Amino acid sequence: MDKKFYTTTPIYYVNDKPHIGHAYTTVLADVLSRFHRSAGDATFFLTGTDEHGQKVQKAAEKNNMDCKQHCDETVVRFKELWDVLGITNDRFIRTTDEYHKTVVQKVLQNLYDRDLIYRAEYTGWYCVGCERFFTEKDLVDGKCPDCGREVSEIVESNYFFRMSKYQDWLIEYIETHPDFILPKFRANETLGFLRRELEDLCISRPKSRLAWGIELPFDKDYVCYVWFDALLNYLSGVGYLQDDAEFAKWWPASCQLIGKDILTTHTVYWTTMLKAMDLPLPKTIFAHGWWLTGKTKMSKSLGNVVNPMDMIERCGVDAFRYYLMAEMSPGNDASFTEESFINRYNTDLANDLGNLASRVLKMALRNCNGTIPAPHEMLAEDNELLAAADKALEVMEKSLSTLALDSGISAVMDVVRLGNKYFEAAAPWTLAKTGNIERLETVVYTAAEAMRRVAVLLDPVMPNKMKELRDMLGMDPGLPATLEALHDKKNILSGSTVLDRGGLFMRIQVEDPAACQKPAKEKKAEKPANVVAPEELVEITDFAKIKLKTAKVLTAERVEGADKLLKLSIEVGSEKRPLVAGVAQYYTPEEMVGKTIVIVANLKPAVIRGVESAGMLLAAKSGKKLALVTVEGDIPSGANIG
Ligand code: ME8
Ligand code: MG
Repeated sequence: MDKKFYTTTPIYYVNDKPHIGHAYTTVLADVLSRFHRSAGDATFFLTGTDEHGQKVQKAAEKNNMDCKQHCDETVVRFKELWDVLGITNDRFIRTTDEYHKTVVQKVLQNLYDRDLIYRAEYTGWYCVGCERFFTEKDLVDGKCPDCGREVSEIVESNYFFRMSKYQDWLIEYIETHPDFILPKFRANETLGFLRRELEDLCISRPKSRLAWGIELPFDKDYVCYVWFDALLNYLSGVGYLQDDAEFAKWWPASCQLIGKDILTTHTVYWTTMLKAMDLPLPKTIFAHGWWLTGKTKMSKSLGNVVNPMDMIERCGVDAFRYYLMAEMSPGNDASFTEESFINRYNTDLANDLGNLASRVLKMALRNCNGTIPAPHEMLAEDNELLAAADKALEVMEKSLSTLALDSGISAVMDVVRLGNKYFEAAAPWTLAKTGNIERLETVVYTAAEAMRRVAVLLDPVMPNKMKELRDMLGMDPGLPATLEALHDKKNILSGSTVLDRGGLFMRIQVEDPAACQKPAKEKKAEKPANVVAPEELVEITDFAKIKLKTAKVLTAERVEGADKLLKLSIEVGSEKRPLVAGVAQYYTPEEMVGKTIVIVANLKPAVIRGVESAGMLLAAKSGKKLALVTVEGDIPSGANIG
């Protein structure tokens, strides 16, 4: 891996407050930067705001504000959101910053002096929304080919950048540099665009039409086209024409992240601008897909944008970051729905990760004097769990260059799920009861060591929660949370003092998605019916402690010497458990197998007649009759009931 990593996000328009799409690109850049820092690379992460041009001028006019004043107010929304999201950018650039304006003017003058910018009469069609000129043949049914809105005909004198002369060079460059535009199908999209004749780029706007921009140094009547100004932030943000040492250290960028909406401006305008300035091109321009609301594009006019601040307030920063990173495969579109958010949260974070962490801690607290023990003889299953963690490290490191972070995350979650199964199978609670301390210690050690690696691998995604987890495991100081430390096999988690901080992730109640982590709303107590005495009433918060789930009976057998009991093995989602049920006088083992039953899933495990039981089955009893509680229809095991 390169020991230097310079990444950028687009600089966002300050025409409105940020939404989930802006948050996504910025969190992605942040996670990548954190990983590279963790791998020991020198890292620079640039983000900022695009403050000139018609869009911003219009937004300011609408608010009855001076343009700069409007920018100063809106930029705060972005800075605040990045603060809340824990974004670790090294610089925040605003295109209204003086140093940036100076760089833009210097570049314009230089290109003008070298005849790479010239003046000409121009007739074209202009789309206000997209701020772009189109030729007659670009239009689709006389409308803007990008957004489909009305365009207006414009004849004026303007300045042009000789972009067309780089067409053949650019095609060849893309064809000979397979990592330049990713994913690969986006490179093909750009090549498709380049099949038509490339025209020169109009880089000026007469002040009479648009005053809000950087003045051309060679003609006071014009300002610079907003894209030409904005793209240069990637250079001015790292010292171009101001600090040669800094610039040499960072340029060319390692990875420039963009959404697919701005592919052409980056792969055609930006690259030819760099070529004209005799600068090397970025190693990779990565264009990710769209976040959709359900199945439709998120857009302000449709009123379906997701506000990140709302999500964070309700569900926490780390869960939001995790969702963004785990849910989108960066080349493709992803759909945001509250349901998928809650599902992922409850399954991955509350059930799998939170559960394993709490199990390991409880065992260490109860049976190992509150410390993570040293391992004894390692069995095949112990090594298998740690090998899965090695594999996750490998997948995660690979995903840093392909940007398939979702696959890295999913490999880590595989370790977590395997860890839960491992714990089930090794049953340390039984080992404690039977006094098999050596094996118990090895099991607690192995699960804790797997947790340590998970805590490091997910640290860039969930920095706060993984810090909490590391504190619980007693990792700090001593065992650094870096990828480098994971490669050093001398580092193992043993001898540290654990800390019980309570649950890492609280479940979100599905019935009331809006409540998220807030406590479930209390229902008004109804007049008690005579089946329940008033003193028997419970608060809903008490009831919410009971986790009812569906489970499928896989096997059933009688318990020797206990004629009322059946020993079942059940499947609860991806988990398998033993369960002892007092139903032998009503159901034969054969009748039980294959049934979907309802269990109390969070009952403390117990040993009944020497047989382990994790959970309790629900049944209705009336006199001498007993019937199992089941669910109607085709419901998978592991479903929540409530
Ligand atoms: O285009 N899904 O700024 P912008 C995913 N100022 N990503 C999204 C998204 C969505 N629904 N909506 C926005 C501009 N984004 C210019 C850029 S760069 C020199 C100038 C993200 O405010 C995505 O990164 O319209 C997209 O490219 C960017 O925000 C556009 O932000
Ligand atoms: Mg946009």
